[in-house]
Amino acid sequence: MSLLVKNIGCIVGTDESGRTRAAGEEMSNIGMLENAWLLTDNERICDYGTMDALPHEEGHEVIDAKGGWLFPSFCDSHTHIVYAGSREQEFLDKINGLSYEEIAKRGGGILNSADRLHDTSEEELYRQAMERINEIVAMGTGLVEIKSGYGLTLEDELKILRVIRRIKENAPLEVRATFLGAHAVGRAYRGRQSEYVEHVCNDMIPAVAKEGLADFVDVFCDKGFFTVEETAKIMETGAKYGLRAKIHANELAISGGVEVGVGHEALSVDHLESMGEEQIEALKGSDTMPTMLPGCAFFLGIGYPPARKMIDAGLAVALASDYNPGTAPSGNMRFVASLASIKMKMTPAEAINAATLNSACAMGESKEYGSITRGKVANFYITKPLPSLAYMPYAHQTPIIKDIILKGKHIKE
Ligand code: NIG
Ligand code: FE
Repeated sequence: MSLLVKNIGCIVGTDESGRTRAAGEEMSNIGMLENAWLLTDNERICDYGTMDALPHEEGHEVIDAKGGWLFPSFCDSHTHIVYAGSREQEFLDKINGLSYEEIAKRGGGILNSADRLHDTSEEELYRQAMERINEIVAMGTGLVEIKSGYGLTLEDELKILRVIRRIKENAPLEVRATFLGAHAVGRAYRGRQSEYVEHVCNDMIPAVAKEGLADFVDVFCDKGFFTVEETAKIMETGAKYGLRAKIHANELAISGGVEVGVGHEALSVDHLESMGEEQIEALKGSDTMPTMLPGCAFFLGIGYPPARKMIDAGLAVALASDYNPGTAPSGNMRFVASLASIKMKMTPAEAINAATLNSACAMGESKEYGSITRGKVANFYITKPLPSLAYMPYAHQTPIIKDIILKGKHIKE
């Protein structure tokens, strides 16, 4: 099957440089080709060019973009999309002055979601998660990472990971799965955190690996959650089973998560609301992708990560939604890009690179996804005509997406 898109006002994100991430000043560099066409061949981008050399239309499904713009699909490298119900009661608690940590200490937060997940059938969990998947697909996401971490018992962690596997098999977008058994200490292990960590390493990781249910391993390395030593142990066990690490670090405090993640060659360290100069230094020269989740800072009303400082220091940064019921109940990557511009002073080009190429890199997938490159997977969306690139994060709630193509398939008209 081949698809020819013609009369494209501008293709954004063209890139034949072979780069797998954009760092520092390179983050402002985004390829733009005006008055263009693009051709796919099965699942892949085959070619593109300007309208003066439009290929013959016969034999292809033709989409007339009518001057609309074409963007690479968002890559969302950090979500917790499989959860049961919602947690707006805690939203009210926060309005009334409680902090995220206080709610967690009372047994709310992640444990609240774990209780609900336990009481919900696999079928129902799948149904609820697919609603959220359809929602993010309609908002332009084409590659998504989904974490477990609302099970916190062996049985329930396997349950949530099986739901993710079913999403992988059935959803139109590409999915990567992360095992996050160390998201909080399961209720049965209350007060016995180190025993819980043993359980994660000795029982959960081997069982998850045996069924091939995860691509990555994650730990919530933060104040009040898991320590640096526990995080290292879990990452080392994960590595033995072929699971690279993606770490929750420095959301609530300078936790040591960045350093331990870099030291263990984690694919990414995520959150980074609490960062000092030393943490920025630690990231220099490493392949670990610092990933920011401004939807979480927005929702919790906490400080934003120092993106500007990090990019100016020459680092690459990625953006992701953190879609979850407690700290970011939205998977809208365009809004995430807008927050990056409004709150973290990232330019539109930097924000788009961070939410596409660099976020794909945070999943080890930037050779296949994250830009408009010949040979990459044909994941893109077409908008209505736009006055400029900046319009996209600027008019952050205006619906602009007209057509969505995932793995070469036209899925929305
Ligand atoms: O990334 N910080 C840890 N985990 C999630 C929140 C999970 C929850 O509250 O349910 C996050 O923000
Ligand atoms: Fe998270």
